[in-house]
Amino acid sequence: MAPPSTFRGVNSCSSLGIGLAGFGTVGSGVWNTLHRNGQLITGRTGGGVTLHISKILVRDPARVRATVTEVPREVFTTDWRALVEDPAVDIVVELIGGTTDAFEIVAAALRARKPVVTGNKALLAERGVELFALSKEMDTPIHFEAAVAGGIPIIRTVQDSFIGNRIHSFSGIINGTSNYILGRMTDAGLTFEAALAEAQALGYAEADPALDVNGWDAAHKAILLATLAYGFPIDPKEIHVSGIEQVRPTDIAFAKNLGYVVKLLAVIREHADGSVELRVQPSFIAKSNILASVHGVFNAVAVHGDAAGESLFYGRGAGQDPTASSVVADLVEAARSLRQTTGHRGFLPYRESGELRPVSETSTAYYVRFDVTDRPGVVAEIATVLAAHRIGISGIHSPVDPSDPDAEFKDMVFLFHTCSFGKLQSALDEVAELDCINSTPVVFRIETLG
Ligand SMILES: NC(=O)c1ccc[n+]([C@@H]2O[C@H](COP(=O)([O-])OP(=O)(O)OC[C@H]3O[C@@H](n4cnc5c(N)ncnc54)[C@H](OP(=O)(O)O)[C@@H]3O)[C@@H](O)[C@H]2O)c1
Repeated sequence: MAPPSTFRGVNSCSSLGIGLAGFGTVGSGVWNTLHRNGQLITGRTGGGVTLHISKILVRDPARVRATVTEVPREVFTTDWRALVEDPAVDIVVELIGGTTDAFEIVAAALRARKPVVTGNKALLAERGVELFALSKEMDTPIHFEAAVAGGIPIIRTVQDSFIGNRIHSFSGIINGTSNYILGRMTDAGLTFEAALAEAQALGYAEADPALDVNGWDAAHKAILLATLAYGFPIDPKEIHVSGIEQVRPTDIAFAKNLGYVVKLLAVIREHADGSVELRVQPSFIAKSNILASVHGVFNAVAVHGDAAGESLFYGRGAGQDPTASSVVADLVEAARSLRQTTGHRGFLPYRESGELRPVSETSTAYYVRFDVTDRPGVVAEIATVLAAHRIGISGIHSPVDPSDPDAEFKDMVFLFHTCSFGKLQSALDEVAELDCINSTPVVFRIETLG
């Protein structure tokens, strides 16, 4: 019998050339992993996959880079077109970050029918609709395991291992930097600013940590998970995202006293009517919940499938080697796709449209901190407005010692029974009009998970 035909002439024992766009933290990790474990990979694929990096795109080729083996000077280029168009490049790996040049590189690679591997969640969350459409049109895959939770193989789990499940929900800690900051505020009593400075000094946070602390890095990852699980494109403008900048030591102390910890949580849930809830915000979760014990820069994603039930995926959500591990796994997958005569295993949206549940219609219990003027009657004034909106109060607390005559009565904390966010928000808008309220109330969700 004749051997199966091959795609683009790549036969079963070819060495495949990789064009590596980006040679920073992750890109150099990919170089290291392929040089350390190249033989192992070839062995594990039955001798079928030999990968070598034939071109590397950087901004500054002269920069000294620490790698396990020296990178020949001639491999570097500053011209992304030269990388994508190089006939020696079979697979393009995009690890430069951002959504402009990265978009051009990925789109050009797809048009050239070269499979793409990327770790760029911002690119796929913001411009994935265009890129996945192009991927479909060119019948050329985009692999993106490294884009969500670094070294944790959650993308493949959702795409392959859970393919027979209706996925009810995900709850995840998917930004290691904010988890580290909240952990240090909890364990060492640091302020947000001090914990952030520490994270930066240790290299856990970027020089510009905005996307980590404002929740958008986690939101980009959540969008990708939801897109995979529910199959329709999600517009980032339609989801509710808030970050950890507003978390204060007083919130952390309250959470502790009440038996909770504060985590930046991504919640994705499919409702009975088919609508999908997707939100990212600092949340109170019970100390006994397994996600409460996810410390430092680690990530965890709890997935609830109708057949598999609850599963938890835990590991390093970022960093050079863990992220390179996911990129290399995708490279092998991309190499295999080059041998397939039809179809590919990259992501294809399978529903034209779906419905995101408006955040106003999502319900949890809440913790709300009010910045109040210290005078008699404040609690009653707030409670009256809330009662008029039929919002149930489950607790009222003041952080200061009420027996201390000199104590400043400034932060008032209310705990509310479960109600829709829309209903709570209308009540809080009215409370904010009271002259005893000095700034916008700060709201955290109290989540019941699993
Ligand atoms: N770091 C992580 O732990 C991690 C985890 C998961 C996913 N990711 C994702 O992986 C991607 C790369 O992250 P990273 O941490 O490796 O970034 P990085 O350390 O900042 O490295 C970026 C690399 O891309 C090159 N580069 C950037 N813009 C370029 C341009 N316009 N033209 C040519 N080269 C350009 C830089 O060149 P020079 O070297 O000359 O400056 C550098 O080599 C991002 O999308 C990130 O979100 C990162």
